[in-house]
Amino acid sequence: MTSRLANHSSSRLGGADLFNLEIIKKYDKAGPRYTSYPTAPMFHAGIGAGDYEATLRRVASDDAPLSLYIHIPFCNTVCYYCGCNKIVTKQYHRAAPYLELLLKEIDHVADQMADENGDCKRAVTQLHFGGGTPTFMSNDQMRTIMAKLRERFNFVAKDEGEFSIEIDPRECDEDTVRVLEEIGLNRMSMGVQDFDPIVQKAVNRIQSKEETLRVLNEARAHGFESMNIDLMYGLPHQTVETFNTTLDTIIEFSPDRIALFNYAHLPHMFMPQRRIDEAAIPTPQEKLNILEHSINKLLDAGYVFIGMDHFAKPSDELTIAQQEGKLYRNFQGYSTQADCDLIGLGVTSIGYVGGGFFQNKKEMDAYAELVEADQFPVFRGYILSDEDHLRRQVIMRLMCDFALDYSQFESEFGIDFKNHFADGLEDLQEMSVDNLVELRDNGLSVLPAGRLLIRNVAMVFDEYLQKKKEGTSFSKVI
Ligand SMILES: C[S@@+](CC[C@H](N)C(=O)[O-])C[C@H]1O[C@@H](n2cnc3c(N)ncnc32)[C@H](O)[C@@H]1O
Ligand code: SF4
Repeated sequence: MTSRLANHSSSRLGGADLFNLEIIKKYDKAGPRYTSYPTAPMFHAGIGAGDYEATLRRVASDDAPLSLYIHIPFCNTVCYYCGCNKIVTKQYHRAAPYLELLLKEIDHVADQMADENGDCKRAVTQLHFGGGTPTFMSNDQMRTIMAKLRERFNFVAKDEGEFSIEIDPRECDEDTVRVLEEIGLNRMSMGVQDFDPIVQKAVNRIQSKEETLRVLNEARAHGFESMNIDLMYGLPHQTVETFNTTLDTIIEFSPDRIALFNYAHLPHMFMPQRRIDEAAIPTPQEKLNILEHSINKLLDAGYVFIGMDHFAKPSDELTIAQQEGKLYRNFQGYSTQADCDLIGLGVTSIGYVGGGFFQNKKEMDAYAELVEADQFPVFRGYILSDEDHLRRQVIMRLMCDFALDYSQFESEFGIDFKNHFADGLEDLQEMSVDNLVELRDNGLSVLPAGRLLIRNVAMVFDEYLQKKKEGTSFSKVI
């Protein structure tokens, strides 16, 4: 729809167009990342296993493709900064009972979606292994999971889908890369954060450049495309100079995509973060300096700012999809795969099926008990209203296109956009005066200086934040 409005000029933008210090300081506040709308704090315990089962059955014969997410929670060491859902253990034998639970859960989901021949017809075009550290599972265990998924679901050919995995390069030798290719994966994202030895020590993540480059090269040799590297700014002891050295190395490695996350320090929520020396965390000004420098450097190196922490080469499918107005967003971030039902498997995982979110139990024991009893381990969720669907689409298109074409929503949802969103558009007036957005009669565009603040723009269309208008536990926008 929005190809006309899409981000055609991104590749020509310089750092100075995106980074306006005064504006960033003015608008820097906590806000959601909108990997879902409504956001997870809206999920509630009124939605449970029965709703999930009924929904799976209802969507079983839909035509749209399917996406699968498999959560492997284990890590063998803890990185102090980590805010992911993980279980830190060196007991590799814990993977075996978890594998059994996953296989059981896969069967239970597939049973609801199967036709009279036991087949699930819907095409799986997207799959993601996330964690934790998915390669905590042995190569044989990974083979077993994929064999079960292929037995129960209908996968498109490897070159027609996006089949990805998050990799900790310290936990991945060439044998593993070969097996990941063999089981049909074709995308890989690697955690790095920072190569500086002092920073690495402070966050308990010692990872050499050599082992990172080795995995990157091996993955490329085994046909993995769109390789991504995760970096983080705001970690203890980071300065512009130290992070510049990390960026030099990363640019030399030349991944197709780079995610540059703002370290979210929420020690009340994530215990290991209490081991981070707060006095060593860069000041807000230093963090902004690192961000500004990083943006300049990545754009100078030829990367395009996709939005929300993500950069990609102009030739990468993410950049091309954005230019064509065909970019989407889900729990894994940006995607080229159209918005579709997402089945979450494993402890803590979240699915989006038939217009509702369903989240699995977060505690391993509770998850295990329910799966073993042949019950869905769903403990909360959210069924979207028509209004939620509308706002979800508005926020998705904003985050992906940096623009909105009101007529598209008017025809699809039968609304008068400007009337319907009168309050939100009013809230955008100030951003319009500050040159963050351009408001037109039939649509809006997020101007370059507004792109780093896309969350702030999206927030005016979030019905629940608008109702609350108060502090939340979300991380800061920048
Ligand atoms: C599940 S981890 C990556 C896979 C693998 N476990 C690893 O560490 O290489 C996903 C990413 O989330 C990001 N992340 C983790 N904790 C974060 C935090 N507190 N703030 C911002 N980003 C965070 C990191 O960039 C990390 O690479
Ligand atoms: S960053 Fe990755 S390896 Fe480190 S604790 Fe988090 S999930 Fe585990």
